[in-house]
Amino acid sequence: MTEVFFENEVPISERFGDVYFSKEGGTEESAYVFFEGNRIAEKWKETNTTNNSGFTIGELGFGTGLNYFITLEKWKKEISPPTVSFFSLEKFPLESSTLKIMKNHFPEISTWEKGLLDSYEKALKDGGQNLRSRIWTWTTPHPSHRTQFHLHVYFSDVITTLGDWKEKIDAWYLDGFSPAKNPEMWTAEVFQKIKSLSKEGTSFATFTAAGFVRRNLESVGFRVEKQAGFGRKREMLVGGI
Ligand SMILES: C[S@@+](CC[C@H](N)C(=O)[O-])C[C@H]1O[C@@H](n2cnc3c(N)ncnc32)[C@H](O)[C@@H]1O
Repeated sequence: MTEVFFENEVPISERFGDVYFSKEGGTEESAYVFFEGNRIAEKWKETNTTNNSGFTIGELGFGTGLNYFITLEKWKKEISPPTVSFFSLEKFPLESSTLKIMKNHFPEISTWEKGLLDSYEKALKDGGQNLRSRIWTWTTPHPSHRTQFHLHVYFSDVITTLGDWKEKIDAWYLDGFSPAKNPEMWTAEVFQKIKSLSKEGTSFATFTAAGFVRRNLESVGFRVEKQAGFGRKREMLVGGI
């Protein structure tokens, strides 16, 4: 478990000295950067649901689960979305007491309901000391359509987990802490692994526009574009293969 402290109900990692989500407009920023940056709503419309070909999202850094909750919320509002599998990974899982505070911070969306929190805690305990065997899954049926939203969180290091994943990904949410503070989430080795797990036409989006992140992405063959960042942030990166 990892240590956090709070400023205005926003969790900050002691280990990395960085916020889990933005202090201003956490939900809007997350939706803008990751959901819209990857054009997920358009891609869902293009995904053929008749042959059960689902849509897969890969996230680096599960943290508080905010990106998952926002994506799930958007999916529930679609009339006939495809089945979605949301794969995420987390080496330093947050304690339930921290996650409960999320619920107060974002009353407008459904986040850490009791059943979900119990299931998260159980998955962490059941895996024992071997981080690699701790995997948490949770399925939500669509409120009016026949499809489902599957969450899979691997509680292990980024490199180990990407090596274990078999599923090919349609859209990547690159959400480590800021690259200067958490460089191991932004290496060419990580990007080489995500490239090998990407479907043709995959996309990525990230809040950062750091030069070494762009260069590492390009060095393994991703097309990278700069886009206006959220609010006062000048730039962010999007792209694909
Ligand atoms: C900015 S936070 C993610 C925020 C998250 N997406 C959310 O919605 O709350 C970055 C996350 O990456 C995790 N992380 C950092 N280094 C890691 C590593 N080497 N392997 C796996 N996870 C790592 C951190 O523990 C943290 O939870």
